[in-house]
Order: sequence, then C-alpha cells, then structure tokens
Amino acid sequence: MEVQPLSPNVGAEISGVDLSKPLSDNEFGAIRQAFVDWGVVFFRDQTLSPENHIAFAERWGAININRFFTPVADYPMIAEVRKEPDQKKNIGSTWHTDHSYDQEPALGSVLYALETPPVGGDTQFASMYAAYDALSEGMKETLGGLKAWHSSRHVFGADVVSLYEDGKRRFQNAENAVQDALHPVVITHPLSGRKALYVNADFTVRFDGWTKEESQPLLDFLYKHGRQPEFTCRFQWKPGSVALWDNRCTWHCALNDYHGHRRLMHRITVEGEALSA
Ligand code: SIN
Repeated sequence: MEVQPLSPNVGAEISGVDLSKPLSDNEFGAIRQAFVDWGVVFFRDQTLSPENHIAFAERWGAININRFFTPVADYPMIAEVRKEPDQKKNIGSTWHTDHSYDQEPALGSVLYALETPPVGGDTQFASMYAAYDALSEGMKETLGGLKAWHSSRHVFGADVVSLYEDGKRRFQNAENAVQDALHPVVITHPLSGRKALYVNADFTVRFDGWTKEESQPLLDFLYKHGRQPEFTCRFQWKPGSVALWDNRCTWHCALNDYHGHRRLMHRITVEGEALSA
C-alpha cells in the first residue's frame, strides 16, 4: 500500500488496496493512520457493491442513516448524491462539514463515484487544522472561549428544499429538520489531539450568547480564512473513485461546473462522538 499526499496540508491518495475485500488489521491500521494524518483519503479504480461499501464504512463505526437524502433503493444506509443533466443545482456546493447540526457529529463520510461528468464535478477539501494554526494568537484566544450553534433547519427544512427544482426527489423528511447543536468553535480532535476550527458556512448559525448579526462578520472572516488555497486540495473523480473524509477536521465543497451531465455518487456517513474544546 502506498500513501501519496495531494497537498502539504490535506488529502492523500492511497494505492495498492482493494476495498471490496475484507481488510487485514494491518491494512486498516495503515489507512486509519493516513486518515488521521491527512484528513481525507482517496482510492482509485474500486468496484464496490453496496454490501462492500457498507462493510468498508462499518470498519470505522456504526452507520448514520441520513435523515434527509434520498436513499439508494433497498439500501437505507446509502444516501444518493445525484445531479441529472437537466438539473442546475448540485448537493454540497457550499464549503461545509456534514452533520455538524447533530449533538454527536459524524466521524466521516465514504463517497463512492458511480458516474462522473467528462470533466468538472471535482470536490475541494480544506484542512481546519491548517486554518486554525494560521490564526493569530489573539484570535485563537478569542475563539477558544466560544461555542457556536449549528442547525439543520435552514438547510433541509421545507422552505429551502422546495427551492430545488426537484427537492422532493433528492431530499426527504423536511419536517424532521429540527436539529440544533452547540459545539466548541475550536475542538480538540478525538483521534489526533490537534486543535481544529469547527464552524462551517452551511450549518453554523451564530456564536452562543451572540446575535446572528453580531456573529456573521466574524463567521464570514473564518469562512474566507478557512478556504484559502494553501489549506486545500482538489480531487478529480472518475467512476470507481472513493473518498473518505473526516468531518471534524475538514470542510468540503462540491463544484457545480458540469451542467448537462450526470454525476452520481453513493455516500455513507459514519457516526461520531460529542466534541470537546
Ligand atoms: C457532499 O457534500 O457530501 C457531497 C460531496 C460531493 O458530491 O462531492
């Protein structure tokens, strides 16, 4: 097995492993170490049945059945991330981390590409370790004393989902978009022990004890700061590519630059734990 970094701060491609086969403890240990070191790991040329995909995800923890994404037929554990040639909106085009609206946010997600456009539809990832490390000592001290509210309401609630051309087909259970969670703005990552910035432009609503209006300027600064090219990598998908990202120390953003083509991915999200400062 070989681990090839894609950028200095985030992302590594792993070759020499077949994810459709049960992984030995040594293989799993090496992948886990790369995941801890690089925040997101990529695999190429995989052929995964839904059962293989589920088995790989279950090596990392219990599977979180997504409340809002339309599932793959007969596989409620697998969420469909689809854009059809006649659709203009895609899923996940704002820099974000999945499930930060949960009390125990997801550990990570395993995304498997089935159909990709001839060009475009890349996903960018950003290291929230690098973003945190690059802040001034004064800003670190300020953020270190703060918590922020995250919510699913303004993303998966009926008002927003109805704006999608086919919101009802791509999303479900809008009435269940009622999650609000309070997390430290700077977390200590449960695996690496490193400090990471933990707010994101999709789900974070405001700092605890601050109004939305007071919070937004500082949040906007952090969103701009966190997506600086130096903290990111960019992955070009092909059918058979797999990404496994850590939701606690990375953001991701799915580029929407491939109108007129289908992009079809299967995503499984793995349960995580409560986060602490
Ligand atoms: C997501 O945000 O989970 C989807 C990412 C992608 O489609 O690249």
